[in-house]
Amino acid sequence: MGEKDTILSVSDLSIVKGKKKILKKISFQVKKGEVLALVGPNGSGKSTLAYILMGLKGYEPSGGTVIFKGKDITRAPVHERAKAGLILGWQEPARYEGITVRRFLALGLEGRGKGVTEDKLKWALKQTGLFPEKYMERKVDNTLSGGERKRLELSSIILMEPEMVILDEPDSGVDAVAINNITGVINNLKESGVGILVITHSDEILNLADEALLICNGTIIKKGSPKEIGKFFVDKCLPCSDDEFPKEVGLIE
Ligand SMILES: Nc1ncnc2c1ncn2[C@@H]1O[C@H](COP(=O)(O)OP(=O)(O)OP(=O)(O)O)[C@@H](O)[C@H]1O
Ligand SMILES: [Mg+2]
Repeated sequence: MGEKDTILSVSDLSIVKGKKKILKKISFQVKKGEVLALVGPNGSGKSTLAYILMGLKGYEPSGGTVIFKGKDITRAPVHERAKAGLILGWQEPARYEGITVRRFLALGLEGRGKGVTEDKLKWALKQTGLFPEKYMERKVDNTLSGGERKRLELSSIILMEPEMVILDEPDSGVDAVAINNITGVINNLKESGVGILVITHSDEILNLADEALLICNGTIIKKGSPKEIGKFFVDKCLPCSDDEFPKEVGLIE
């Protein structure tokens, strides 16, 4: 694959919050149809990176660039990014209190200028293992469990036909059966040429990635195969009490 297959290119991205440098010179690329996994301890800056890439308010980078489909979107507002096909699946999905699942899914479709049909809505729910007859008329509020909300959000994302998705822990709070639905959805997105950045703590999801990045204290300290990164994380990062990096980090390219 050449340069033209790169859908997202991030260079030297940094952000400061208060006095703390939360991300320090993050660089990576994602190609069309590629799954890049981002792994790292709690508080290492993974969600912050997702918010910067999506252009959320309060997450303007202090340095670096974000190029999406060859265009510099570093300062573009969130709706412009979404319109261009960049979609974020939140670690904690919003609830949109009061609207039905049907309306929630339709809103996503309409927002992307796509037509709403019953078949499409049912298909999207089934993809994440939610039975349409059980969920379509439910309210999107705290009567849905955390795992159900995560699955619903993924249903909404696939309906939007994104060109690039950032999935922030799509596995968190979902059961083992749902993980299979989620890996299925990610594989389908990959096959249709969508670029995927997936933040995860799940081995199943990590192992379907083409490549993985390990982030520690706002710095990408290692890039490699999912197996290699998963092993390094478990062996070196989890036991690491150092404020900065695991001691072995000096050995990494
Ligand atoms: N607005 C803010 N002001 C100050 N510090 C912040 C702010 N937002 C995030 N942080 C800090 O930045 C660091 C990175 O947070 P972030 O949510 O990106 O971590 P994460 O890697 O997604 O963690 P987790 O695995 O728990 O989801 C944390 O130490 C967090 O406390
Ligand atoms: Mg997070």
